[in-house]
Amino acid sequence: MRIYQEADYAAMSRRCANLISAEVIRKPDCVLGLATGSTPVGIYHQLAEWNRKGDLSFWDVITVNLDEYRGLAPTHTQSYRDFMQKNLFDHIDIRQENTYVPNGMAQDPEEECSRYDSMLRALGGTDLQLLGLGRNGHIGFNEPGPAFIKETHVVELSQSTIEANARFFESADEVPRQAITMGIGCIMEARRVLVAVSGEDKAEAVYRSFCGPITPEVPGSILQLHGDVVLVGDRAALSRL
Ligand code: GLP
Repeated sequence: MRIYQEADYAAMSRRCANLISAEVIRKPDCVLGLATGSTPVGIYHQLAEWNRKGDLSFWDVITVNLDEYRGLAPTHTQSYRDFMQKNLFDHIDIRQENTYVPNGMAQDPEEECSRYDSMLRALGGTDLQLLGLGRNGHIGFNEPGPAFIKETHVVELSQSTIEANARFFESADEVPRQAITMGIGCIMEARRVLVAVSGEDKAEAVYRSFCGPITPEVPGSILQLHGDVVLVGDRAALSRL
């Protein structure tokens, strides 16, 4: 595993954007696995700036997002599709039809999960998967539990995730209770995994994911078994390593 310790959030974002752009330059039609949350916002803004200046093109890039809330329409301001549009897709030259996010409104969520897995298989998996880390060590929306779940699945969000994400909604009551998330298998099949972390409130999750036992109670700990992980964090997030 490679670790980059950066001074602050801005430097962490720039480092990750650099690693992603290196992948896009190496393979212009690469498949990027993308994440939501507050952590990647700075990364996306940096990539959009390089795109605007003409230094980087996403024309042939395909993106697949990790997860989506169940019950939120793509146009809902807190849906992950809307997040991706506002923070990245609307500002770069990517072709909209090459951007994939699970459909949180699917009538039959199980069918949506297998459709997403088939689509991932058809694309040949992701070249680079960007991940944030939940405060409880979740990746995507793979919450702590008794087992790692391989495939895309419907998940009940944990109380700590609902509370952590309540800041984006009017109140915790409005946070959806379920989500569709890519499974641990799809994440582990990515050729490279890039984990971005920032802030002191992630230090414990970083420590438990990368220094503790590999257990589904800390979903991020599975990354210790991946052969090409790059961890990029600011000093605060890496302070316990
Ligand atoms: C959310 C997302 C994750 C994200 C995590 C951390 O629940 N599903 O993909 O990595 O929480 O979010 P943040 O970056 O805002 O701390």
